[in-house]
Amino acid sequence: MDPTPEHRQNRDHPYVAKAALDQLIASEFPGDGPIYLNHAAVAPWPRRTADAVKRFAEQALSEAAWVYPEWLATETELRTRAARLLGAQAADIAFAKNTSEALSFVAYGFPWSDGDAVVFPQEEFPSNRIVWESLAPRVAARPVRLTGERDPEAALIKACDHKVRLLAVSSVQYITGLRLDLSRLGAACHRAGIAFCVDAIQGLGYLPHGVDECHIDFLMADGHKWLLGPEGLALFYCRDQWRDRLVLHEFGWHMVDGAGDFDRIDWRIADSAQRFECGSPNMMGAQALNASLSLIEEIGVPVIGARVLERTGYLIDTLARLSRVTVMSDPMIKRRSGIVTFVPRGSSQCTSDALFSALVDRRVFCAKRGGGIRLSPHFYTTTTDLETAINIIISMC
Ligand SMILES: Cc1ncc(COP(=O)(O)O)c(C=O)c1O
Repeated sequence: MDPTPEHRQNRDHPYVAKAALDQLIASEFPGDGPIYLNHAAVAPWPRRTADAVKRFAEQALSEAAWVYPEWLATETELRTRAARLLGAQAADIAFAKNTSEALSFVAYGFPWSDGDAVVFPQEEFPSNRIVWESLAPRVAARPVRLTGERDPEAALIKACDHKVRLLAVSSVQYITGLRLDLSRLGAACHRAGIAFCVDAIQGLGYLPHGVDECHIDFLMADGHKWLLGPEGLALFYCRDQWRDRLVLHEFGWHMVDGAGDFDRIDWRIADSAQRFECGSPNMMGAQALNASLSLIEEIGVPVIGARVLERTGYLIDTLARLSRVTVMSDPMIKRRSGIVTFVPRGSSQCTSDALFSALVDRRVFCAKRGGGIRLSPHFYTTTTDLETAINIIISMC
């Protein structure tokens, strides 16, 4: 790997100086576990997130709701951090159980008419495909194959004729790591009056997802991948113009104006995105995710992104030089993300299954996806760890 960015002051990104960043990484990530190249699945937590949950558990043990105002303040802080990450307002952010639930809020709240259509990449993660297909026959699902497409955005835009009301994409495709140009897609949707829905779980935390720059109407991302948080708490952004137009299907005390005033008989749905949160929040998850986002803010998405891309750049470039490996991920710089997927195509001993077992036996944690092996390092992954993985691959193929 080109060591240059590792050894210079972060002149381009004045968030945190190099030495301080090294120290921060050492204190947040003990590095005594497996070689972790699986952030696209479920990521490890930083130290501060584990500490936040331990503290929450201690408080729950002795004080419980006595400290609820403190817990609530942390949840409010989380909403503000999430809004900053997206260039949105706190009132635009709701917390959902997971990405799939937030996708369902959109799919089942959207004001469809009979005969409408929805476009999405054919290779999407099941949650971002099934939910649209489930709307049939009222709404036609139009999957667009991106594999082999030289201009995936053009293919998606071309499929958006007058019947299409919504385009749904993942900012980064979960198998190959293909990164889509959100501003180009968003601008096209905006021009055509089509709603733009982005599943950001594979990109949020290291790639920019400015909802205004990209004309995003809906965005969702669970915390357990690139945000380095827990499972079971997702951020859901809903553009204010859409808030009243999404039909709600869940009702309860928490989603109304003046939530907590239990004596009140009349009720009105909250103006803010809290309307999507019908009952008690995932308070433990909120403490954890707030701690994780505080780390991301402290370092800054540009620094995190540059480091992630440096690591996957090393993997793509090195794997591409191996004659017995086919890299499934698009090598073009603008298409790169935190995910690199490849297929071994050497001797009979070098199948994806055999190589995956060899990597796991040597404590290199990765995933099998789409018939290949998916590697997903994060900003703190060391060069040595990447080299260890590459050496195992070379020795097997
Ligand atoms: C692109 C994408 N969307 C959605 C999900 C599922 O998210 P959740 O479990 O939060 O619903 C995943 C999980 O891997 C994913 O990769």
